[in-house]
Amino acid sequence: MKTRFRVAVVGAGIGAFHVEGYRANPDGYEVAVICDKDADRAAGLAAGVPGAEVVTAIETVLARPDIDVVDICLPPFLHLEMIEASLLAGKTVLCEKPLVGSLADVERIMRIAERTGQAVVPVYQYRYGNGLARLRRLLDAGLAGKPLVASIETHWNRPAEYYDVLWRGKKATELGGAVLGHVIHLHDLLTFTLGPVRRVFARTATRVNAVEVEDCAAISLEMDNGALVTSSVTLGSADEISRLRFCFEHLTVENPGVPPYQPAEGDWRFLPRAPCRQADIDAALAGFEPRRESFAGLFEALHPALTGAAPWPVTLGDAYRSLELVSAIYYSAATRTAVDLPLAPDHPVHGGWEPWLA
Ligand SMILES: NC(=O)c1ccc[n+]([C@@H]2O[C@H](COP(=O)([O-])OP(=O)(O)OC[C@H]3O[C@@H](n4cnc5c(N)ncnc54)[C@H](O)[C@@H]3O)[C@@H](O)[C@H]2O)c1
Repeated sequence: MKTRFRVAVVGAGIGAFHVEGYRANPDGYEVAVICDKDADRAAGLAAGVPGAEVVTAIETVLARPDIDVVDICLPPFLHLEMIEASLLAGKTVLCEKPLVGSLADVERIMRIAERTGQAVVPVYQYRYGNGLARLRRLLDAGLAGKPLVASIETHWNRPAEYYDVLWRGKKATELGGAVLGHVIHLHDLLTFTLGPVRRVFARTATRVNAVEVEDCAAISLEMDNGALVTSSVTLGSADEISRLRFCFEHLTVENPGVPPYQPAEGDWRFLPRAPCRQADIDAALAGFEPRRESFAGLFEALHPALTGAAPWPVTLGDAYRSLELVSAIYYSAATRTAVDLPLAPDHPVHGGWEPWLA
């Protein structure tokens, strides 16, 4: 049975971090190809990866039978077409967020994945952090009690030059703004922890840079379990934080918020509230074994799925729910109405949120 998989990383921007993640799992993966239409950028990345070849077109990757995994790190507007082509070429596909630009497109990919028997693994590397893993352990131990409220602050900084990269800031190529591209990670951590959202009310605005897509949002969520959540988003904060704070009946939880791009990692605070005691928390966390984090953690979790020994760590269903929340936020903000989830298949935003972008 094959245990070491040959990967082509397509797109050498964030793709560089993916390469590090694979290389942190050397028994499981070989980064065999770096593909970027910018040959110099691909070569610059490949220079640090012994044995990696450089190619400039994904078609070259897809024609090669020795490549097992195609990892798509391209601008959002290219994801749909590249995922489809990779599935039809018989590859396992990883794809960066945002997976695609509508729920209808996720369903289209689901159908092709089903037909070809191949998997698509959406990249949600923020799930892999030892702070969040500790919280899940406390939840599994039944210490937290009822979830009451949570707050999320995704306060990041994007100066005007960020948009010098031409696909960014445009509806047609970025497919959305901070709600789609940035807070999607923190919202994924929220639903990963508290379960599904049942109602959304949101406001969005473009207040930081002169771009076509929103860069600020104020979002109010009601979870299926009754917890109330507020999520504040801006790309105009002088310092950058990704704060997650959960108040459960018997446990208050806060992540460090920094560094901003590792919100699930670091030294999370777990404060007991009677009848929960510190000793209960300590006992539940005794023997906790830290795992690999971020991309290295995702790829570690992916490996047993590739060998058939475990389910896929992140699924198209996860991407659907994540983009369903995005759809609801955009629709709520544009129509100034509360939106109930799940969205019906004939909901106006099911075919794409583009008409409702700020
Ligand atoms: N998960 C995360 O934390 C995270 C962080 C940053 C970006 N992203 C996502 O990753 C994706 C890429 O973002 P980025 O910041 O790396 O963008 P980028 O523009 O820096 O890099 C994209 C690369 O793709 C190459 N490219 C474009 N079209 C191509 C084609 N047809 N064939 C081959 N190469 C092509 C470009 O030359 C460029 O080098 C986006 O979807 C973005 O949202 C995710």
